[in-house]
Amino acid sequence: MFSLAVDLRGVDVLAVGGGPVSARRIRAFLAEGARVTCVAPVLCGDLHPLPDGVTWHERELVDSDLDGVRLVHTATGDHEVDARVAALATERGLWCVNASAVQEGTAAVPARAQVDTPSGVVSVAVTSSDPVRSVQLRNRIAHDLRTQPADLRPRRAHSGWVALVGGGPGDAGLLTARALTLLHTADVVVIDRLAPQAVLETLDPDVIVVDVGKSTGHHPVPQTEINRILVEHARAGLGVVRLKGGDPFVLGRGGEEREACEAAGVPCEVVPGITSALSVPLAAGIPVTHRGVSKGFSVVSGHEELPWLPIASAHTVVILMGVSTLRQSVADLVAAGRDPLCPAAIIERGWLPDQRVTCAPLGELADAAETAGVRAPAVVVIGDVVTLGPDWTENVPAGTS
Ligand SMILES: C[S@@+](CC[C@H](N)C(=O)[O-])C[C@H]1O[C@@H](n2cnc3c(N)ncnc32)[C@H](O)[C@@H]1O
Repeated sequence: MFSLAVDLRGVDVLAVGGGPVSARRIRAFLAEGARVTCVAPVLCGDLHPLPDGVTWHERELVDSDLDGVRLVHTATGDHEVDARVAALATERGLWCVNASAVQEGTAAVPARAQVDTPSGVVSVAVTSSDPVRSVQLRNRIAHDLRTQPADLRPRRAHSGWVALVGGGPGDAGLLTARALTLLHTADVVVIDRLAPQAVLETLDPDVIVVDVGKSTGHHPVPQTEINRILVEHARAGLGVVRLKGGDPFVLGRGGEEREACEAAGVPCEVVPGITSALSVPLAAGIPVTHRGVSKGFSVVSGHEELPWLPIASAHTVVILMGVSTLRQSVADLVAAGRDPLCPAAIIERGWLPDQRVTCAPLGELADAAETAGVRAPAVVVIGDVVTLGPDWTENVPAGTS
């Protein structure tokens, strides 16, 4: 069969049969904008409730059902009935998909997969004489498209867009499939210091990379300037990925960037990322909750006041951006009533080759960090869960664990 893409918007499609195959195809035709009439004495559970846009005739097929139709799909589960429907359709010069004998129909639905990009949908369709082989091949291609470096940028002029993409804690292997799709569709990548830098090597050389990395106490590119860069490139008709460390909406100023795009009328998608608040403790073997040890956690910035957090050491406290204010944070927590013997850890550069973990009881944490020369980026974890990580027994002073 010759592979041909067709526009089904407003097209009348007749679906004969009410089983699961029919149900799946009816939903696919509807998604493409077709008007579907279904003829079947009974409908399977997948068609309850009947989707909007479907007219159901609760009976066997009659010839007049084919009047005004442009595409017929037959999947009655009865080979002879399907063959009769296909013959009727062919007599009238209509395309017909015969689900029980694909080779006997005059049309076939390929194994399909879609990758949505802000500049349009990329479709993959595979047909062959063996539907199982088609599906396997389709799965392979679809997986590669979502996960392997492939330039998905449209070559024609398109309207600009921004995607605020969470890049995870720094290891490119922790990027989501959606993040990769958008990165490979972008004309411009605006990247943070803590975002996974290695992914840049997979981009096409003509992708514009803007480094707006910030380090503690040193802000090379102010937030208003970042907002301007995003909006300006998108207004110039470019697709912009703003690749951020962790999750855009966890102490990441993603909300402000989205507001700036919205105010400028630029379409903006936000893609969640793996936040360092949870994944960096994990990298050090510390679960933020653990049955019988901790049922909950708080994530705060080191620049905030800490007195209102629960003080029990069973409640885990995770502090981001907390290195420079560590001594004050510890003093605030202890003043609020948290036990100075509460286990604590600082994980520097989580998920990166030089990750380092420093453990101490809370009251000694600031001194331990100073002695070790702890530097940002680091995540502070305070609570009984710290004892579940492998570094606690090795590092804490004798008699405190
Ligand atoms: C501005 S906040 C951004 C947080 C980010 N939105 C997130 O969800 O992970 C930056 C802070 O995240 C933490 N951080 C991010 N990546 C880290 C990493 N790989 N190792 C340790 N801390 C990290 C540090 O506390 C750093 O100061």
